[in-house]
Amino acid sequence: MRVEDLPIRDDLRGRSPYGAPQIDVPVRLNTNENPYGPSDSLAADLAEAVRLGAAGLNRYPDRDALALRGELASYLGHGLTAERVWAANGSNEVIQQILQAFGGPGRTALGFEPSYSMHPIIVTGTSTEWIAGAREEDFGIDPDKAVALIGEHRPDVVFLTSPNNPTGTALDPAVIARIVEAAPGMVVVDEAYFEFARAGTPSALTLLPDHPRLIVTRTMSKAFAMAGARLGYLAAHPAVIEALLLVRLPYHLSSLTQEAARVALAHRAELLGTVAALRAERDATVAWLRGRGLEVADSDANFVLFGRFEDRRAVWEGILDRGVLIREVGPPGWLRVSVGTAEEMAAFRAALEETL
Ligand SMILES: Cc1ncc(COP(=O)(O)O)c(C=O)c1O
Repeated sequence: MRVEDLPIRDDLRGRSPYGAPQIDVPVRLNTNENPYGPSDSLAADLAEAVRLGAAGLNRYPDRDALALRGELASYLGHGLTAERVWAANGSNEVIQQILQAFGGPGRTALGFEPSYSMHPIIVTGTSTEWIAGAREEDFGIDPDKAVALIGEHRPDVVFLTSPNNPTGTALDPAVIARIVEAAPGMVVVDEAYFEFARAGTPSALTLLPDHPRLIVTRTMSKAFAMAGARLGYLAAHPAVIEALLLVRLPYHLSSLTQEAARVALAHRAELLGTVAALRAERDATVAWLRGRGLEVADSDANFVLFGRFEDRRAVWEGILDRGVLIREVGPPGWLRVSVGTAEEMAAFRAALEETL
């Protein structure tokens, strides 16, 4: 039996699931993970937290994850408190909850492409209609055009990704502020990669006090190197979090996840200690690719978009044949490489050289 033979929702027919390939090769630079795993002492602390938590697994977890939310708030700073922070299983779940509360049948969500492919997938999954706006040649957003587009469509939710995936582009908070002021509904700024931004790049968190319909999402999957733990979070007005309580599943965040995230936060000096090295490796990768005569987007994230290739599939395959997995994503002709360790980036450079 095929999916089409099932009584599936009409709006899901013919759709493709999220599908970054998970291929077992020596060097994996395709999903923007942090290449550095936890140290032995952090792994031991995580194991101890799980051991202690295991004794209470007969009970449901704290439904509101208050201790974790308080600690996330103090990590974010900006005067935030637990009542302004919410957490779920990865920022993808956070985004899904936002759409369950503020999108849905008869409602629309607008984003500026190329951007994170999961935004339209989650939008469609919640029966919200996706409206695709466009970024400029330099992958930035023109505020005048954005305001006009918002005026035309009056979307219930607007997505802004900064730094943007797959381009690496960070947005000026002044652009975000103009869009929030023009938008009739909620504005989500997805800051999954914020910790990698170049020095002096302000977070949209600075805009929160003046904009109650603004939501800033973050994740522990990237800079915190905890993609496997699944912990995403957001900061917003307390009323936004009250709205999310209406749609979240009870006990959505397991006690083990909450404990693991708290241990990771306690070890943030170690975990975020990799960010400086990754930024330096990113900047070196950008410079090397430009030196090879390739076009490269400026990046404030832990990945680099480069091109343009007549046949990007062939280049992607050539690199893969040499044991390095990167991502075939972005506008036609471009490829994206996540920033790995110095050794992994050397393997990437060698594989690309040989392929070209
Ligand atoms: C822009 C953006 N937002 C959110 C996510 C999802 O992260 P997670 O669900 O692991 O928190 C990603 C992951 O690649 C991303 O690129």
